[in-house]
Amino acid sequence: MDHTPHDASAEANPLRRLTLAELRRRTSMKWRTYPDDVLPLWVAEMDVPLAEPVVRAVTDALARGDTGYPAGTAYAEVFAEFARERWGWGGLAVARTAIVPDVMLGVVEMLKLTTGPGDAVVVNCPVYPPFYQFVGNADRKIVEAPLDPGHRIDLTTLEAAFRTAVAGGRRAAYLLCSPHNPTGTVHTAAELAAVAELAARYGVRVVADEIHAPVVAPGTAFVPYLSVPGAADGLSLLSASKGWNLAGLKAALAVAGPAAADDLARLPEEVGHGPSHVGVLAHTAALRDGRGWLDALLAGLDENRRLLVDLLAAELPAVRYAPAEATYLAWLDCRGLGPVDDPAAVFLERGRVALSSGTDFGSGGAGHVRLNLATSPEVLTEAVRRMAAAVA
Ligand SMILES: Cc1ncc(COP(=O)(O)O)c(C=O)c1O
Repeated sequence: MDHTPHDASAEANPLRRLTLAELRRRTSMKWRTYPDDVLPLWVAEMDVPLAEPVVRAVTDALARGDTGYPAGTAYAEVFAEFARERWGWGGLAVARTAIVPDVMLGVVEMLKLTTGPGDAVVVNCPVYPPFYQFVGNADRKIVEAPLDPGHRIDLTTLEAAFRTAVAGGRRAAYLLCSPHNPTGTVHTAAELAAVAELAARYGVRVVADEIHAPVVAPGTAFVPYLSVPGAADGLSLLSASKGWNLAGLKAALAVAGPAAADDLARLPEEVGHGPSHVGVLAHTAALRDGRGWLDALLAGLDENRRLLVDLLAAELPAVRYAPAEATYLAWLDCRGLGPVDDPAAVFLERGRVALSSGTDFGSGGAGHVRLNLATSPEVLTEAVRRMAAAVA
């Protein structure tokens, strides 16, 4: 493939590059849902300029008029290489992959391959709200297995949920969020191996949403679900979407373990027509040539996590926050602020800061808010100042 490697050494923290005035010119959901006096720290979009290799890939495609249908396996090939380099995992076999329009539609397709209408899908609440909506719309029913108080998978709770899910001999799936949104938990190899053993024992199929996998703090090891012993019949969804802010450039990758290859082979052909060809080119360029940019982002996110700890200690000591090892989301326990039904509503109405309401994340979400810290330190500082003023 013809490309110029990108010079990673020159990367500056992408979170410090854009002003609020520049960001407000954006027309995406983050910037157009609330009026201009609101600081938007809610939906998972990042306040960064695009990595230069992504811009180049897209503008080159437009210059060529290369806007047809997607072809080839370059996206899977670069993801396999990325997985080998970043996660030490050589098991992403291109032959066992398929491109899908985005992670959530990919999740739905994987659930259709492994379960039938009316079957159960187990999730670890509190969890990314669309898990509830997409699973419900796919005519599957949710069984909740809450995370433990330390935000880790509780195997006893999970086992009880698996037992409920397969009752009456029904098929069932476990939609694992790894790393976990909203808590940022990075599941360990031992935890994932225990999950695989439990799933095999109950005949539950594991579908792992690994969209946040590239966004892991420096020094933390992400473990792909399919890399652990016993996970051979698992399915995983990967994407460059979160790591490089490409949600509008639709593309994602479904990956099957060796014992799930026949399932993935049943994926209807038309699903592969959904991803945007330009999206696939953008994601491929990000994974191949945007690793220096990603590293600069990850360092900037880590600074923001530490900044948020300090800001909350100084301005909002009643709010509890355990900095996570992954994602650019912060899960804030606001129950110490007193009996407030929905703290996100208070922060929005009185503070003019838009956060995600914890109640949307299922059981265990009440009294919490999710804050998106993929922004500049200045915006983060101003947001916490406003939040504090809102509850003063
Ligand atoms: C856990 C998780 N899955 C899926 C998505 C959405 O991904 P996509 O836009 O590729 O469907 C998000 C977006 O924030 C997410 O956090």
